[in-house]
Amino acid sequence: MNILVTGGAGFIGSHTVVELLSAGHTPIILDNFSHSHKSVLDGIKKITNVDVVVSRGDATDPYTLNELFSQYQIDGIIHFAAYKAVGESIEKPLRYWQNNIGSLLAILQMAQSHHVQSFVFSSSATIYGEPDFLPIPETAPRKPATSPYGSTKQSGEDLLHDTVTAPDSFLKGISLRYFNPIGAHPSGLIGELPIGTPQNLVPFVTQTAAGIREKITIFGNNYDTPDGTCLRDYIHVIDLAKAHIQALEYLLKPDANQYDVFNIGTGTSTSVLDIIKTFEHVNATSVPYEIGERRKGDVVQCYADPSKANATLKWKSRHTLEEALRDAWNWQRRLGKK
Ligand code: WQD
Repeated sequence: MNILVTGGAGFIGSHTVVELLSAGHTPIILDNFSHSHKSVLDGIKKITNVDVVVSRGDATDPYTLNELFSQYQIDGIIHFAAYKAVGESIEKPLRYWQNNIGSLLAILQMAQSHHVQSFVFSSSATIYGEPDFLPIPETAPRKPATSPYGSTKQSGEDLLHDTVTAPDSFLKGISLRYFNPIGAHPSGLIGELPIGTPQNLVPFVTQTAAGIREKITIFGNNYDTPDGTCLRDYIHVIDLAKAHIQALEYLLKPDANQYDVFNIGTGTSTSVLDIIKTFEHVNATSVPYEIGERRKGDVVQCYADPSKANATLKWKSRHTLEEALRDAWNWQRRLGKK
């Protein structure tokens, strides 16, 4: 199938493009490269030996989309293109709403008018907020978003739901709720590009180990958890990428629901301190850290019950935390050589 991958030059997008190719699909990347770089395309080429079709443009631009949809028969869409920095979204809410919802609206309108069948939306566990119980199933109540970024993910799910459940909708849709994506392709040829100061834990750990950052601050170690630091469900980006392939294949089934949501996580939790200690152990390196103040908006614990995706999408995370942290370090060291 021809699959339009918006944001396909991004961290999760690029790994999904590689998995689409290995599954025999034809990805078409749409990316404005505002948060990516041409070198990602070189990495994909080196891994797959394929020159992927790339449209350099904005997913909110009707002209770009019209051109793309009239040039290619699009069978399915994976929509990654969105801004994702929680802190930045609080400072620039309009930019986040315009881009994240504007792009989704434009793409859905094109999908409808061009009779596209399958749509996979990049959502986030952030929609659960501070969960009432753990692990988190898809039926857990949605909590009020703690950032405009989280609001755009919640509204994005609603927009997709309403579109694909309208009477006679040909388009079917799935929202994948990501937990915490980490790691990189084992080749070290693609990974999470360091653009600005890392907001997320693992890129900050790798940059500290590489000496780019002097030390990492652990945002609070006085939480009600075994070692006092927050717990998250860290999933290898390749396992996350594969979930998109499974979601597309599921949507092709005649008995697939018009709309569904799935948690994409490992089902296990790891503390901040354990991430640092495990990283040091598997990579035989050191990560200097200090204990700092809690970060506003952090939830204490968040990890998935992935059993619905396991059963319905026939998907399960396969990589270990150690593999993910080793791949993250391998990517960081290759970056250092560039
Ligand atoms: C993980 C843990 C921090 C950095 C966010 C978004 C989510 C998704 C992933 C976009 C927390 C601690 C971190 C540091 C630290 N984003 N930490 N020192 O907050 O779970 O999720 O990123 O798709 O939607 O909400 O991930 O990696 O920022 O933080 O102590 O320098 O690491 O406090 O407990 P988070 P994270």
